Amino acid sequence: MPQPKSKRKKMTAPRFVDLKRAGERIAMLTAYDFPTAKLLDDAGTDSILVGDSLGMVVQGHDSTLPVTLDQMIYHGEMVARATEHALVIVDMPFMSYHVSPQQAIENAGRIIKETGADAVKLEGGESMADTIAAIVGASIPVFGHIGMQPQSVNTYGGFKVQRHEDQLLADATAVEQAGGFGMVLELIPRELAAKVTASVSVPTIGIGAGPDCDGQVLVTPDMLGQFQDFKPRFVKHFGNLHDAASLAVRDYIAEVREGAYPDDEHSHA
Ligand code: KIV
Repeated sequence: MPQPKSKRKKMTAPRFVDLKRAGERIAMLTAYDFPTAKLLDDAGTDSILVGDSLGMVVQGHDSTLPVTLDQMIYHGEMVARATEHALVIVDMPFMSYHVSPQQAIENAGRIIKETGADAVKLEGGESMADTIAAIVGASIPVFGHIGMQPQSVNTYGGFKVQRHEDQLLADATAVEQAGGFGMVLELIPRELAAKVTASVSVPTIGIGAGPDCDGQVLVTPDMLGQFQDFKPRFVKHFGNLHDAASLAVRDYIAEVREGAYPDDEHSHA
């Protein structure tokens, strides 16, 4: 069971790494607003990721590419303000760190200063090692993201499972050696994710990467069953928010139309 709120210490990047050393599995979820972040934090989530997946699940785009730095800061600030215990990580959006390590430091700095988050996340392994090292050198904890990198969707030609073992192992090593305190493994066959996890001393957090990662992350509207139009194989619906919310809205509409709401109980004398 998640620990009662009062007994939980604030999660930090070093404590996050300690969870792997202690053999404790890590639960991460995404949030993009204050009430969701508060719910996840109160429930005992170890880490809350303000993912650029918000481009798809909040803004309705078909990729994460349109998301801007200012939008990540807007959502990141709400989440960080709601969160007392979980480690808050904010995604660096497409093209906010690709130009140069200097650009990456400036934008990671804006995220930390303007949101109050604990760390940033960026996509890429070997090719981003210098950038990760530069941000870590500015005293900002960096979480990596290897395997399927959604910001490279146009290069892959779709959201595809990544199977290139040598590249994945090299990317994981590069993130760790550059000072990253962990990494997301996205859409990787489970045996390969297990090998990558065993090859690094920092935590791996899987999404579509099987059970042998050090922890798991899901996009919260997906796992709550809010989005039901499309369900990737790795997504499990732990609830059915879509049907529960739809029923509540239909009841409201019916009661307003019938004149049943508001009744005496919900009216001021
Ligand atoms: O943007 C996001 O939510 C993510 C997770 C899917 C890992 O990067």
